[in-house]
Amino acid sequence: MLKALFTPQKINNCVIPNRLVVTAMVTNFCNEDGTLTDRFIKYHEEKAKGGWGLIITEDYAVNPNAKGYQFIAGLYNDEQIEGNRRLTNTIHKYDSKIFCQIYHPGRQTSHFVNGGVQPVAPSAIPCPWCRDLPRELTVDEIHEIVGQFGDTALRAKKAGFDGVEVHAAHGYLLAEFLSPYANKRTDEYGGCFENRIRILKEVIADIRSKVGNDFPVIVRISGEERVEGGRTMAETLVLAREIESMSFDGIHVSSGVYGNYNKGIVSTMYQEHAWTTDFAAEVKRVVSIPVITVNRINEPKMADTTISMGKADFVGMGRGSLADPYLPMKAKMGDFESIRYCIGCLQGCVMQLLKGRSITCLVNPEIGHEYETDYTKVEEPKNVMVIGAGPGGLEAAMIAAKRGHRVTVYEQRNDIGGQFKSAAYPPCKGELSNFVSWIRNELKKLNVEIKLNTTVTEELIKEVNPDAIVLATGGVPVKPNIKGIDKDHVVFAEDVLLGKVPTKDLIVVCGGGEVGGETAAALALEEKKVSIVEMLPEILKELDPVQTIELTNILNKYGVKQYTNTKVVEITDNGVVCESKGNRFTLPADTIVLAFGYKPNKTLEDKARAYCREVYTIGGAVKTSNALDAIQDGFQVGLKL
Ligand SMILES: Cc1cc2nc3c(=O)[nH]c(=O)nc-3n(C[C@H](O)[C@H](O)[C@H](O)COP(=O)(O)O)c2cc1C
Ligand code: SF4
Repeated sequence: MLKALFTPQKINNCVIPNRLVVTAMVTNFCNEDGTLTDRFIKYHEEKAKGGWGLIITEDYAVNPNAKGYQFIAGLYNDEQIEGNRRLTNTIHKYDSKIFCQIYHPGRQTSHFVNGGVQPVAPSAIPCPWCRDLPRELTVDEIHEIVGQFGDTALRAKKAGFDGVEVHAAHGYLLAEFLSPYANKRTDEYGGCFENRIRILKEVIADIRSKVGNDFPVIVRISGEERVEGGRTMAETLVLAREIESMSFDGIHVSSGVYGNYNKGIVSTMYQEHAWTTDFAAEVKRVVSIPVITVNRINEPKMADTTISMGKADFVGMGRGSLADPYLPMKAKMGDFESIRYCIGCLQGCVMQLLKGRSITCLVNPEIGHEYETDYTKVEEPKNVMVIGAGPGGLEAAMIAAKRGHRVTVYEQRNDIGGQFKSAAYPPCKGELSNFVSWIRNELKKLNVEIKLNTTVTEELIKEVNPDAIVLATGGVPVKPNIKGIDKDHVVFAEDVLLGKVPTKDLIVVCGGGEVGGETAAALALEEKKVSIVEMLPEILKELDPVQTIELTNILNKYGVKQYTNTKVVEITDNGVVCESKGNRFTLPADTIVLAFGYKPNKTLEDKARAYCREVYTIGGAVKTSNALDAIQDGFQVGLKL
């Protein structure tokens, strides 16, 4: 089973025990001076324990101002070597190998995070995301940075890393030089292809002069940049051949630059799995050094098929390793149902970085807490009553049971998952079901009893007499006091998604938040005529920018009309009376879908506290929240019990 995936493969002289690679991911777990923390080391150790063949670290800065995030690692001075030796010694207790990714962000940073200096770039063109106007590098400065790449690689070697990955992808400094998208220079570093690749040639030459020929040095590039005027595969194939002749030992083929939302660096659930693998396959046809592919490959069987077909030599899984650091070990044992799969939501990882925070993972709240998580069995197990089987309640139940408590989950519906279950129904969101089915399986293994169709009452709490209660009752849909809202053709979005109520052909969705937008998209895909009415100036306000664009594309493609700055004033038998800027108009409809959001369901709070001394209220039962907060709450409470 998965023979190709678990066959060792060399990069230079380094034998990588299997083909599964953790790709570089900024964590923001380090100190501001670039030194490592226990948190950073323990996070990596989990992956080594989990059996990844190769772990590539986050992008280490090559100088103190070469930072794209405030709390990333650096190897720009010798004092930083010692902490990294601790990291590599830790990883080498296991079978895994570890490479250090080294980089300069170029214009894709901001003075807020890089030590307060103006970013630098081949040309003075701001990155559309980061916005700071960069300063054009002088030739002397280019030479200095080239030397810094070599020095950093040497420090990585001294710190015990098995190799380095030079980051020339994703629109950072080296990628900027490589591409006419960002490089408008007219000296020997700009213009024709030969000039644009000069810096990469100099970087590898400098590295080789310092680390020798035996030390593995690979390079990461974007196969396609996916922006107007960016590099496409035609030039990437030429670049790949040059890279091999420059003496790199491997090519990691990624995609994108900052500023492309669709099919960029980190793809969402709206994009196909493995959509960049054909880039790697094409590169593999023109080089003989190992090739790594990446992007939305979460399934070990898909990875094995990719290797077996000869499309790549290694498969990178960034987020797959966040969702489950033990994926390789489970895959090797054939225990696929136990793998916690990444769902492509971006909420716990990328979105946290964009807010300046450190990463975690929506489906795996332990990420970032590995150094402080203690699953030691408790000495005095408690009878724990978890009320509500949404994601937060299920997480709390799982962690409490892991620690030895006797846990029962009570759910008034006929299934588990809460709003997470219905959230899987809109287009492209099917993978959300993975989490619910995974946690169901885990709870079964832990002998957690789940009582469905059970409404918890005061009497039931008295009868059970629990030692602790976790109130994970979530939210209830908001139903504002609007004339006509109780009419038969008015339904809740969640009931529509779950197929509990039929809808006719002409639909008005009241509320243009995430649930309203997604329900509208789901109905539009059923070829219904759908309009959204939203009081705010824009729809999908609480959604992250990437998913907003993806969902808006679907709404536009399927002709969903959007009325913003518009209030619902009345629901009649034939439609919805709306008001916008003082004007009233009626949108005809034969089904009206309510998506006004949720408010905390606190009905059991007092009753629970009256009969139990230890009560924890989490997630949507506390305040309007999302699955990320609910699962984090559940995790923390499970550890506290
Ligand atoms: C939180 C996060 C941080 C990332 N940081 C880096 C980085 O430091 N260097 C890099 O080359 N790619 C970075 N990436 C991109 C990943 O290495 C990977 O290419 C991308 O996530 C797609 O692969 P996946 O679908 O397996 O996650 C990052 C991705 C994520 C999710
Ligand atoms: S937060 Fe979402 S996208 Fe990020 S690793 Fe976790 S499941 Fe995947």
